[in-house]
Parts: sequence; structure tokens; C-alpha cells
Amino acid sequence: MKSPLLLTMPGNGAMGDLLASELDAERRVIETLRFPDQESYVTIDGDPKDRVVVLLCTLDRPDDKILPLLFAADAARELGAIQVGLAAPYLAYMRQDKRFAPGEAVTSRTFARILSQSFDWLATVDPHLHRIKSLSEIFTIPTSVAHAADALARWIRANVEDPFLLGPDAESTQWVADTAAKTDAPYAIFEKRRTGASTVQVDLNNGSSIGDRTPVLLDDIVSTGQTLMEAAKLVRAMAARPPVCAVVHGIFSAGALEGLTSLGCAVVTSNTVAHETNRVDVAIDLAKAISDRISRGKWSG
Ligand code: R5P
Repeated sequence: MKSPLLLTMPGNGAMGDLLASELDAERRVIETLRFPDQESYVTIDGDPKDRVVVLLCTLDRPDDKILPLLFAADAARELGAIQVGLAAPYLAYMRQDKRFAPGEAVTSRTFARILSQSFDWLATVDPHLHRIKSLSEIFTIPTSVAHAADALARWIRANVEDPFLLGPDAESTQWVADTAAKTDAPYAIFEKRRTGASTVQVDLNNGSSIGDRTPVLLDDIVSTGQTLMEAAKLVRAMAARPPVCAVVHGIFSAGALEGLTSLGCAVVTSNTVAHETNRVDVAIDLAKAISDRISRGKWSG
């Protein structure tokens, strides 16, 4: 069988190079342009005929990315790909997983349905699962999930002296506990209450046990930064050392990084979304999830 063809959407080059080497894949690019009327022009540089095609596109700021991505998937299929999978290191639209007010679109479900119609499988890293417990609840295609816990733990062990891990909310307990076990560090979990789209309140009952250790605030996503900023303010009042924020997906809306650094936080993220704070490499973990899907073939679950 020919080697897989890894097609990177714009902005995914760094992760594309890492994955191509892990997967022994040919890496080519998808070129996109905007016509004057703002419609998209998409072209595949490479020959998908009789190949397994992996489209690589991280899905932060997804609305501008999704149509070109779907056009590329369809073109790959029309050009003879035997399998078209999506590698999305960050999977968007996982947080609106419920109709909170009458008439709201439950975008998690709709987005999953749209992707399921265009791809044979999905591989991603730590999707935000809250009320939805598994991707199979919303995707009708097979999915493989890679976890950043090992890579985060390696980074913490190598770079943080006497870490004390802190999870932002009850949902984070399991993976914070897992990372704590991998780093031989104690941990505690905040109680969090979201008071608006960009406002949160947090509380920590047993924060006094941080003592002289380095507080490490772990979260799966940093977007507005409010969750981590509120936690960091609390921790600064309890701990002698300034906190480290270690996050899987760095989305960083305007002012988020500045807000965190102005509180004295060091901020590191994984490379699921390319950003100046990327220090934790999850390419090996994502490559395993992709290989797993490729080897199971098109139709197996
Ligand atoms: C929420 O449940 C997530 O785990 C993150 O805590 C949240 O998405 C972070 O968002 P923000 O940076 O806007 O507070």
C-alpha cells in the first residue's frame, strides 16, 4: 500500500512536519485563496488517487476554516482517495453541548454531524468532554482520542521544582489526578462557577497545603483566560511561589496571555494550536491515534 498522504491546511505546517515523520507519510499542502467575492478557492498539492488521505487542520477559530476544509475533503475523495480522515489536534464547538436557553443551537451536535458527513474518521487530542461523555455520542464516524497527560507530565517533571497540581473544576479531577500520579505530585481541585461567557468564580478549600511548592494550574483550554486568572489570583494569595499555567489547548482570545503574565504566571501550552507558549509536544500521541484509525480501515469502529 502507498504511504499515507498528509495534507496540511494553512497554519498547520509545524505539526504537519512532526506528524509526517512519525507516520512516515508524504506531507503536502492544501492551498487556499479568497476570490474577490470572498468565496474560497482550494487546491490540493499532491495526488490522492488510491491513497489514505489525512487532512490536518486544528480547529481553533473554526468558522473561517471549516468550508475550505470540507472542500478539500470532498476534492480528495473525488480525486480517488480510498479513505479521508481528519486529524484535528484541537476540536472546536465542544462547549455548547446543551440548549441552555430556548432556541439556542446545540452546536456540538451539529458540528459533529457536519464533520461526520465529510470524513471517514477523526483523530484529536483531549476534546472538551463535559455533559457529552464520549465523542461517539455525537459523531457517527469512528474517532480516536490522544491524551496530553503524558507529555504534560514529562514537561512538568523536567521543568517545575516541587510541583503542586491544581485542577480548575470538578470535571478536571480525573486527568489532574492522572497527571499528578505521573509527576509524583500532590493535587487539589478548585470549585468553579461560570457567571457569564467570560466571567467565572473559583474557590479552593485546601489551598493552604500548597506551602512552598510551585502551584501548577492545569486546564484543557485557555480562551478568555478568566478561569486561570481567577484561580491564579487565589493561588497567589496562598502560595509563596508564582503559578505555572499548563494548558492543553491555547486558544487565547485578545488579552488572555497578557492578563495571565501580568499576574506573574508562566504559561505553557501543547502544540495542538500553534502559539508562542507551545512547549509540550503531543505529536507522538496524536500520530498514534491517527495510525490507529488508518490501520483499522475505513469502516471499522
Ligand atoms: C471549561 O470547562 C474548560 O475546562 C476551561 O476551563 C474553559 O474553557 C476556559 O475558558 P476561559 O479561558 O475562557 O475561562
